[in-house]
Amino acid sequence: MAEPPLAVRRRSRLGAARKRSRPPAGPSAACSPLAVKRASIGGEGTPAQSPCDDSEEDMFGDYSSFCEDDSLLAQALAAEPARPQDAEAAAGVVPESLRLGTAQREQENCSASETAGTRGGDTERGVQTPASDPLGASEELADSLFDELPSSQLLYFAEMCQPSAGSEASAGTEKVDASKCSSSDKIRSASSPCPDSEYKNRSTEFSSDLKSDSCKNTSLKDHLKNALTENAKAPTVKVSKTKQLKEAILSEEICVARKAIGSPSVDIGPFYGLPSKVKDLLRQLRGIETLYEWQHDCLTLECLQQRKNLIYSLPTSGGKTLVAEILILQELLCMQKDVLMILPYVAIVQEKVWGLSSFGIELGFLVEEYAGSKGRFPPIKRRCKKSLYIATIEKGHMLVNSLIETDRIGDLGLVVVDELHMLGEGSRGATLEMTLAKILYTSKSTHIVGMSATLNNVGDLQKFLRAEYYTKNFRPVELKEYIKIRDTIYEVDSKAENGFTFSRLLNFKYSSNLKKADPDHIIALVTEVIPKYSCLIFCPTKKNCENVASMVCKYLNKEFRSHREKEKQDLIKDLKNIGNGSICPVLKQTIPFGVAYHHSGLTNDERKSIEEAYSRGVLCLLACTATLAAGVNLPARRVILRAPYVASDFLKKNQYKQMIGRAGRAGIDNAGESILIVQEKDKHLVQDLVTSPLENCYSNLLPEFTKGMQNLLLSLVGLKIAVTQEEVYDFLCHTLLGVQQQLLSKEKSLSELVKDGLESLIEKGLLRVKIMEKDQNSKITLAITRLGKAAYKGSIDLSYCNLLYKELKKGLEGLVLESSFHLLYLATPYDMVSNCSPDWMIYLRQFTQLSAAEQTVADMVGVPESFIAKKASGQAIRKSVDSASVNRLYLTFILYTLLKETNIWSVSEKFNLSRGYVQNLLNSAASFASCVLHFCEELEEFWVYKALLTELTKHLTYCVKTELIPLMEVAGVLEARANQLYNAGYKTLAHLANANPETLVKTIEHLSRRQAKQIVSSAKMLLTEKAEALQEEVELLLKVPTDIPGTS
Ligand SMILES: Nc1ncnc2c1ncn2[C@@H]1O[C@H](COP(=O)(O)OP(=O)(O)OP(=O)(O)O)[C@@H](O)[C@H]1O
Ligand SMILES: [Mg+2]
Repeated sequence: MAEPPLAVRRRSRLGAARKRSRPPAGPSAACSPLAVKRASIGGEGTPAQSPCDDSEEDMFGDYSSFCEDDSLLAQALAAEPARPQDAEAAAGVVPESLRLGTAQREQENCSASETAGTRGGDTERGVQTPASDPLGASEELADSLFDELPSSQLLYFAEMCQPSAGSEASAGTEKVDASKCSSSDKIRSASSPCPDSEYKNRSTEFSSDLKSDSCKNTSLKDHLKNALTENAKAPTVKVSKTKQLKEAILSEEICVARKAIGSPSVDIGPFYGLPSKVKDLLRQLRGIETLYEWQHDCLTLECLQQRKNLIYSLPTSGGKTLVAEILILQELLCMQKDVLMILPYVAIVQEKVWGLSSFGIELGFLVEEYAGSKGRFPPIKRRCKKSLYIATIEKGHMLVNSLIETDRIGDLGLVVVDELHMLGEGSRGATLEMTLAKILYTSKSTHIVGMSATLNNVGDLQKFLRAEYYTKNFRPVELKEYIKIRDTIYEVDSKAENGFTFSRLLNFKYSSNLKKADPDHIIALVTEVIPKYSCLIFCPTKKNCENVASMVCKYLNKEFRSHREKEKQDLIKDLKNIGNGSICPVLKQTIPFGVAYHHSGLTNDERKSIEEAYSRGVLCLLACTATLAAGVNLPARRVILRAPYVASDFLKKNQYKQMIGRAGRAGIDNAGESILIVQEKDKHLVQDLVTSPLENCYSNLLPEFTKGMQNLLLSLVGLKIAVTQEEVYDFLCHTLLGVQQQLLSKEKSLSELVKDGLESLIEKGLLRVKIMEKDQNSKITLAITRLGKAAYKGSIDLSYCNLLYKELKKGLEGLVLESSFHLLYLATPYDMVSNCSPDWMIYLRQFTQLSAAEQTVADMVGVPESFIAKKASGQAIRKSVDSASVNRLYLTFILYTLLKETNIWSVSEKFNLSRGYVQNLLNSAASFASCVLHFCEELEEFWVYKALLTELTKHLTYCVKTELIPLMEVAGVLEARANQLYNAGYKTLAHLANANPETLVKTIEHLSRRQAKQIVSSAKMLLTEKAEALQEEVELLLKVPTDIPGTS
């Protein structure tokens, strides 16, 4: 299923606030706040499971952190002969699962355990240092990690320990032991020892985190060597028996620890349960000093503390994102759970990954991108760090499916949905509804938070999501709404009878020529604000955007050219580079005036450059389509709506509100206004528009019957969420459709719809009926067929999954592997086929350029050479040829040329298409190729496609020279930037992750400090993520199975 790739970008205000020049904290420092447990937020019914979930994968871990204690476990250990693993574990390799237990024990007997911990550490160091740390490197590491903590963090630690006096652990001793177990000990030594059990508890938890992180820094080779040696030494029978005993006792320990977390006596962080470092980061990275009152009220809502679901709604630019982000951080750091954030567009996902990577690096969590063809299913289960998955609607759905399938949905503590009103928008709305319904049905511990500026029937949504509701009419920057009819400007006024009141008369002195060219006074309205301020003009169509931009520039005063002239020239140079020497003639004409258009016809690189220039004020006017309407933070003192239409449809209230909401963004502008240009004939419609409430949000499961309902039914059975008709019906009652069924489905009841849907899936061979005989009673259940499973795993549209199967099967008979041409055909998206109209001359030319082997592909897929030749020469064709195959092959030619030439400009010229169309085709193909790959993974007979499609997907995703791919994997680095970086010597991910942002700014043209820092942060995040994934794999590989025959 394709995701809209709209290149809308969020802009965080960074200009004023400068990030500390101190290098980012290393993993230990980054991890430390993870241990700050939240008492008030993690109230009743909050299982803090994740730490123990991961323990099973930690083969190096053992349970000696409980030693010298009088717990059950300690007794069990006393009865067991000491083994070398114990020593190793005590030396600092403590499994995550044990931290809670440690915390609990230390809370009970703080000073004893501290002393014990120190002693244990010392002993182990005595044993371990010569072999594993001959140079005392780990000690240095802990020192340096501590040094790297930002001052706010140090202050936080110091504050924590302030009331301390008389601890048994002396600063000196602790310092000696710093490398193995005690960065927090070091912290205490930096202030004073801490007697209070609460403080000790918290400090200890920091300590455990740091321990575990310092273990990660031990070389992988050492880990492997130690682990292998220990495995070889350990008699398997013993391991198994003691392990069982320990596990039983351990679970009891964890239970106790969990209760402690739930108890109000556990301290929480100073900033909404988070370390004050978060506050610092918000100031440094976002320029946010204090929270708005509503943000504070919302964050302290009782329902959030009870982990209830929440919907909140505030006007555009109300600051909704920040609340969501703080909730996300609480879940990751305090509750130690993974989080899924669902955003509407690929470009917004990339922007968010880019924006939150710095937080991840500093605070020790992973940020994983799920958009386009990126994302792993199921995601890698991390041992230590928690993950924030940032996903589009489609990828979010696949992710949730994969978590349910692997019984890991409980790992997700929180799901945040931005622009919740998308629930009402076509097949994407249906997908979002399915995702949320599945989470609600399968996981009691995952809570959901949704936000939007444009919600109306909140009651229905609340019922569906079982959520509380918070709303406030707050907008930090006032937005004034105006309407222009002829020469008059009216202000929108809800109290006025017809919705608006007179504001001013326009008295522009237009020549007769200008009047003809600009009858709606766009130029006059624009020049009231530019070039000092920025202005957006929303236009109904792409063509209209280009026309408006050209027209405005034709009549603009020449003085506009001199404003930031050099930077505008640089932008033109930039765009030329992107286009390999070519630049769109419209942009070439408009940019010198500070004007550009913005719509989906631009390539991703072009869009990014134009948005960046506009954000910096180099461009002051963008003529854009609705692609720039949702959730974007761009400067705009004035937003003009060229007409109350999107394409030929009259504007909806929601769309209107989102568009005008781009004006006056907090932190960017201090005032905002919108002007809707209305023709006399539309006056009454516009009156309705401004006076009517926002549209209701309705379920789309029914209108999108195959994409919505049938897909849902298939995956419910496939995931075994519901396997009988009754269970499926029960599930459906819990969807938004279930809530709105009487309104939406007047002809058929919900149970009839379920029955029809299931029957249709059985007919299609995607589901089958199973009769279970049990105690002489037979029960009819449903099971998914192999094809059905492949279809839902690959998110393949059910209307063409049979066709896809047939074509892939046929491909096996004679796959032409001389080039990627044949494979590309199989991965060409079906949903772009219907609106493709081939140019027959180009078709023939392309065909003749194929090699003899490649030409056979055309014949194989049902497009004979004679057909193409006849079409090109205008001859009549007698034999019918399937037009879908013909069109699909034409699209394959475009993709094939793209992969060869890696230049969207030259390809669009060759095929006489807009570069936006070509870019869109490429994005869709990358996404579809990854779907076909998941489809094939489920079908044994297609094993051969797996390797082939993995590579092809990668090529389609980046479509650049191979050497640029590692750089483009970094969120936000597109081809042009990757080229610059590569040429400057940054050739690998490691180069970027370790780059100095200051040097980058100096060596890379047009790269701001903020962008440089974000590139480095994103690269660091990706590198960490990849390294952790490998480590994870190693751990799993070396884990001793508990069920080795003959060992019980
Ligand atoms: N407490 C705050 N202090 C200063 N600026 C803030 C604060 N909270 C948010 N902002 C800034 O306000 C701007 C708008 O915020 P945000 O993007 O969250 O709006 P929104 O409510 O999501 O709007 P929309 O519905 O249009 O997406 C952002 O630039 C953000 O950095
Ligand atoms: Mg928003």
